[in-house]
Amino acid sequence: MTLPGEDLLVVDGLTVRFGGLTALHDVRLSVDAGTVVGVIGPNGAGKTTLFNVICGFVRPQSGRVVWRGEPLVRHRPEHLAGLGIVRTLQGLGLFAGLTVLENVMAGAGRHARTGVLPALVGAGRSARDESDLAARARATLGELGIADLADRLPGVLPYGVRKRVALARALVAEPDLLLLDEPASGLFAELVELSTLILSLRRHMAVVLVEHHMDLVMQVCDRVVVLNFGEVIAAGTPAEIQADPRVAEAYLGDPAEEAPDA
Ligand SMILES: Nc1ncnc2c1ncn2[C@@H]1O[C@H](COP(=O)(O)OP(=O)(O)OP(=O)(O)O)[C@@H](O)[C@H]1O
Ligand SMILES: [Mg+2]
Repeated sequence: MTLPGEDLLVVDGLTVRFGGLTALHDVRLSVDAGTVVGVIGPNGAGKTTLFNVICGFVRPQSGRVVWRGEPLVRHRPEHLAGLGIVRTLQGLGLFAGLTVLENVMAGAGRHARTGVLPALVGAGRSARDESDLAARARATLGELGIADLADRLPGVLPYGVRKRVALARALVAEPDLLLLDEPASGLFAELVELSTLILSLRRHMAVVLVEHHMDLVMQVCDRVVVLNFGEVIAAGTPAEIQADPRVAEAYLGDPAEEAPDA
């Protein structure tokens, strides 16, 4: 158990290059237990790459990821749920051939270490484990208001509902750190509910939120880190970030670089 105010995750001096492109340069940020940290920045700023490094999908050229005081060395995505870290993908990442309930059950890697495939073929887990897991998955769907859709296939559901299924799949693992990559993309009416939900998650877990919807970021985040071309150009409270001219400049472009009048 990590207490509120303790660093849960520290990302220290991360540099990632893809060939000649520097996607992240000397990036540092920390996430305390029980807080929501926003990571914002224009398209291509390196936000998803940061998640990919935290998750072990991408190895940095330098720097490290420290989890509960221990550097993560050669960690792999499949170890994450066991560590207590879960992410949602920038898209949906749902299995089209599985029902909503099965998709959510597939997310419970931390509590069901035998994995998805044995669960689906009914091996490796006792019937008791299986029904406990199904009950937890149903309860999570209930918390997100979609319990009645448990037996449907995701493909027939509206996009906003599928986003909820993806979120339920992350939450069912009961992570200590939830990495959300653009949870609001494609959502309109549901934005208020999403902000209420994220705020309620803080009692149970820390959240890193990558998001382009600024209203949402400013409402739910305790701290915000701004990336631009792979570098942290500002970090602070939402109010500090909103007042920071470097942030506006990163989003709007530098007026000095506009084409001169002909
Ligand atoms: N696997 C890869 N190989 C080569 N270049 C990559 C790879 N992944 C990301 N990049 C490049 O690294 C930079 C950062 O990309 P990244 O996806 O992290 O940005 P982002 O901030 O998540 O953008 P968006 O807001 O559009 O999702 C971009 O220039 C991107 O094209
Ligand atoms: Mg991205």
